[in-house]
Amino acid sequence: MPEVRIVEVGLRDGLQNESAILPTEVKRKIAEGLIAAGVRDIEATSFVHPRWIPQLADAEELAGSLPRAEGVRYRALVPNRKGLERALDTPIDEYAVFLSASETHNRKNINKSIDETFPVLEEVVQLARERGKRVRGYVSTVFGCPYEGEVSVAQVAKVCDRLFEMGVYEVSLGDTIGVAHPRQVKEVLQDLLRLFPADRLAGHFHDTRGTALVNAYVALEMGITTLDSSFGGLGGCPYAPGASGNVATEDLVYMLEGMGVSTGIDLEALCRVSASVQERIGRRLPSKVLQSTLASRPRKRGEKE
Ligand code: HMG
Ligand code: MG
Repeated sequence: MPEVRIVEVGLRDGLQNESAILPTEVKRKIAEGLIAAGVRDIEATSFVHPRWIPQLADAEELAGSLPRAEGVRYRALVPNRKGLERALDTPIDEYAVFLSASETHNRKNINKSIDETFPVLEEVVQLARERGKRVRGYVSTVFGCPYEGEVSVAQVAKVCDRLFEMGVYEVSLGDTIGVAHPRQVKEVLQDLLRLFPADRLAGHFHDTRGTALVNAYVALEMGITTLDSSFGGLGGCPYAPGASGNVATEDLVYMLEGMGVSTGIDLEALCRVSASVQERIGRRLPSKVLQSTLASRPRKRGEKE
């Protein structure tokens, strides 16, 4: 049976965009639920400046309290050397560095030009690898920038190339503001796959315009077998206006398993996690599969819809 590796980014990408700050213990319980549902690859938090992302200011505390289980790997975003030093003091297994393919989003998000960012990330990757840590790379605004509009594939390729040169094991291609459509995904991947092997690229699709799932499908058809998603469909970058949630893990799992592609994730158990987060946050989460699962579940007497 073909397989897809799902990278669950809800605890990081999902919660960073929520106005409500969840207590560390609630986040720990979410991780526990994700593991029980079969999720193995969990992006748990970020060691960014807590003033920039207050929702993840508890990174150290959370990292130290995450449940451990066979085969489960936790990752955290690390923007610079200071973030790396913080991360290295915790049991997080691996890191992710990130930058944008477009200048303006890069500056708004991490306060540097793209060229100023490269040496910062280079140092992070080198030091992390010396300490035996694998590092993933993210490229944001691959399919469009909220400030500049179109982004050229040549610019995306240049940023990917620099990340691989630094020694990241994989680059995740971010449709940060969910503007991509299937034909564009196909064309961009066709170009990138001439330069980089499919097993070193991942797809990271946000669903602002309802195209994330179909974009993930096209990426899979093009040979990409690592896809990022977020429980319940939470997510977004606070420094990318208009960005909304990632493709929902439930929707992705439903589609893939239905197509005979194994994800290792138990949909019912995952829906229980997202249902508890929905209750906690107090609004309907975007995942369609979650909502249909909840709607068809027998209700207890007196339970609210
Ligand atoms: P800066 O203000 O330029 O930092 O922020 P600085 O290097 O000038 O340092 C200023 C002060 O911040 C210093 O403290 C540093 O020590 C401190 P002082 O000496 O003044 O007391 N500092 C830190 N403190 C804690 N942790 C750190 C850290 N770094 C410096 N890591 C910085 C630069 C990168 C830190 C800031 O811009 C930042 O934190 N940005 C993060 C924004 C972010 O998290 N965005 C969302 C994640 S990216 C995303 O969602 C996209 C993705 O999902 C893919 C996609 O969808 O496209 C990955
Ligand atoms: Mg994202």
